[in-house]
Amino acid sequence: MHEPVLLQRQATPARDLGTYLASGGLAGLKKAREIGAEETVRIVTESGLVGRGGAGFPTGRKWESVRMAQDPERYFVLNADESEPGTFKDRVMIDVDPYMVLEGVLIACYAISATRAYIYIRGEYRREAQILQCCAEELAAAGYLEGLGPEGSALSIEIRRGGGAYICGEETALFRSIEGYRGEPMSKPPFPTVAGLFRKPTAINNVETIANVPDIVTRGPAWLRTLGTPRSPGIKLFSVSGHVERPGVYELPFGVPLRELLDLAGAHDLQAILLGGAAGTFVFPRDFDMPLSYEAAQEHHATLGSGALIAFDHETNLWRVAERLGSFFAHESCGQCVPCRVGTRRQHEMLETLAEGRGGSDERDLLVRLSQVMTDASICGLGQTASTAVRSLIEAEAEGLLAV
Ligand SMILES: Cc1cc2nc3c(=O)[nH]c(=O)nc-3n(C[C@H](O)[C@H](O)[C@H](O)COP(=O)(O)O)c2cc1C
Ligand code: SF4
Repeated sequence: MHEPVLLQRQATPARDLGTYLASGGLAGLKKAREIGAEETVRIVTESGLVGRGGAGFPTGRKWESVRMAQDPERYFVLNADESEPGTFKDRVMIDVDPYMVLEGVLIACYAISATRAYIYIRGEYRREAQILQCCAEELAAAGYLEGLGPEGSALSIEIRRGGGAYICGEETALFRSIEGYRGEPMSKPPFPTVAGLFRKPTAINNVETIANVPDIVTRGPAWLRTLGTPRSPGIKLFSVSGHVERPGVYELPFGVPLRELLDLAGAHDLQAILLGGAAGTFVFPRDFDMPLSYEAAQEHHATLGSGALIAFDHETNLWRVAERLGSFFAHESCGQCVPCRVGTRRQHEMLETLAEGRGGSDERDLLVRLSQVMTDASICGLGQTASTAVRSLIEAEAEGLLAV
């Protein structure tokens, strides 16, 4: 039985700083300050922690680049935008353990000598924004932000609420949004570690990524690798919804079979699941023994994404599901580049036809060709992945896996 790490305080949430301290809180920050920034970054690097926001980039490497930057003005950004359909683990993480999330932010700021920390939170997460604000104020009042800012001053943490655009979760669009511009992605390179927020070196991390940090620093670099698989060390939060008896957020070590997660959530006799969120892939029962790790997902031509799983029974018209996803992407495309702006709309039109039981091989062939163009020629991850689920559905249909 897995001993929860990220959700360790779920049964008795630490709603005030005293309770957090009494349950071992802030030990990671204390240790980081004792061992120094360089050693803190080394521990995070050696732990094997990779980003949980979807891209899976090594966290320590990101921090090291910013730590070594010449420019003394640099930023840390916490990405709490979480706007992908079916994803709600960051919200639960903040709800269950806001101090642990903030402790991770403080450690990151210390490690990279951040000028200031920004928390960018989904606009609808009003309650979670208030929770983080109150906790940050309590930490400041108790003196925990002292010495973490520039030249030994107190660190300042600014919370910004998003305006309701999925694209503002993409890191460069998020920076533009904080700066007061339209949230439109920028081409990379330069990467955020070189020119991020205000064109300054910036480390940006997902909420779940950062919640791992206090335990990693406290327990040392080898600890995370005692959980999960060699190529996917640690634990993962999964947001489970759809046709299951117990929807919710589940914490599991990487490598646990998908079927085990489905059993925990009370899933019976499913037609398929959508794994990895709107930009993920449909996975069918023949692959339910797949281990939940980055490498196994890749072998199965699937993706874990940010860990969203939506379950569908045999009554569900999966083409209708794809049509809803198509509508989402067409609506959320920022419109900056043609392959995505036009492609997501044409894709949605064809998916409407297929969801109504009309259309044939012409639509399917065109969808595949369109998908290739969007994947190859779009500027950012939205356009590049807007057709991933559709392609997996076309392949599954050709193999006779669809029930309706
Ligand atoms: C369209 C789009 C939306 C994204 N939304 C989020 C989001 O809501 N939260 C998040 O952490 N990362 C999101 N990302 C990934 C971020 O760009 C970035 O990789 C991530 O915040 C880095 O943190 P990590 O290394 O801790 O995963 C999104 C990416 C794309 C392309
Ligand atoms: S791929 Fe889509 S969302 Fe990304 S920049 Fe181009 S139009 Fe905007």
